[in-house]
Amino acid sequence: MSIKIEDYYNREAFKRMKNFADDHETPFVVVDTQVISQAYDDLVSNFPFAKIYYAVKANPANEIASMLRDKGSNFDIASIYELDKIMKLGVGADRISYGNTIKKARDIRYFYERGVRMYATDSEADLRNIAKAAPGSKVYVRILTEGSTSADWPLSRKFGCNPDMALDLLILAKQLGLDPYGLSFHVGSQQRDIDVWDAAIAKVKVIFERLKEEDGISLRMINMGGGFPANYITKTNSLETYAAEITRFLKEDFGDELPEIILEPGRSLIANAGILVSEVVLVARKSRTAVERWVYTDVGKFSGLIETMDESIKFPIWTEKQGEMEEVIIAGPTCDSADIMYENYKYGLPLNLASGDRLYWFSTGAYTTSYSAVEFNGFPPLKAYYI
Ligand SMILES: Cc1ncc(COP(=O)(O)O)c(C=O)c1O
Repeated sequence: MSIKIEDYYNREAFKRMKNFADDHETPFVVVDTQVISQAYDDLVSNFPFAKIYYAVKANPANEIASMLRDKGSNFDIASIYELDKIMKLGVGADRISYGNTIKKARDIRYFYERGVRMYATDSEADLRNIAKAAPGSKVYVRILTEGSTSADWPLSRKFGCNPDMALDLLILAKQLGLDPYGLSFHVGSQQRDIDVWDAAIAKVKVIFERLKEEDGISLRMINMGGGFPANYITKTNSLETYAAEITRFLKEDFGDELPEIILEPGRSLIANAGILVSEVVLVARKSRTAVERWVYTDVGKFSGLIETMDESIKFPIWTEKQGEMEEVIIAGPTCDSADIMYENYKYGLPLNLASGDRLYWFSTGAYTTSYSAVEFNGFPPLKAYYI
């Protein structure tokens, strides 16, 4: 398998990142914020009716957040630490949603004291905490969705609740003096099956109707989370196709009177803007006759590539050396045998690859820097540069 640069980056963006990379010592990730800016514009033009809440967890760098702030984005925040970081950049509380359903009562209070009035929930205990610590706020309930087998990085199991429970929670929200605002779901990150949105929106529609008819509660918002695709080895449909289909599903269920629609993109905005650059430490064979080579590189699962867990995300890997390819096992530099990125999925790398050569891991702008360990085996966290 040989990776073609033009399948992943336009020529100018690649040149900018490559030129920058040539002058810096590995390992690091270089992120081109112009690519993110374009991805944001593309998302807005494909979903003109939606409000964007950037999922800060994908990459919390100030360079990205301040650029998105200036473009008018809102922010999906997971913790008090992300909140402080984003508010320090001058983002107002009215542009923030506390999207994590797992939170301490005192953290809810922290958000409330700083003016945040929109909260996700999926359990009674959390809802009661919100009612006490953030009285009168808008709440939206996250429902469970299908699609965990067609997402590269599934999210619905730990988060969300059954639709019947969502009904109960929204009724309780009203009784507790909160504003039952809407519903949310996340179909799983890097979701390949667009029909999963159809099923999720249909569930939402049923809850909207039942609450209105049976309890006089009119919900006003659907938060469709993330799940939109980045560009990895296994191809997906284009964003245009996702948007056209999802819009059709919404219109089929809600007609032209759409409720407020929120999107919380992370991966699809940021991943394609980054290249992680590493260096080959060693190339080795385990026996005289072994067919496979082990390629050990200076980044691994603990320095930004945790999403290679179970080989879930298959990052395209490009090398300057070309020529005859041979299957390899790719592993990181630490003394931990879990630190193997790819063994089952057969990556090919050039036969003449040697120590000191660079590996360029494409589409690594999202979920790399913030996942990096702080000192495992003494290695520092992954460096990141924003250009
Ligand atoms: C609540 C929430 N919203 C949005 C996202 C971003 O999803 P994605 O990276 O698939 O766009 C996540 C990812 O974990 C999330 O937990």
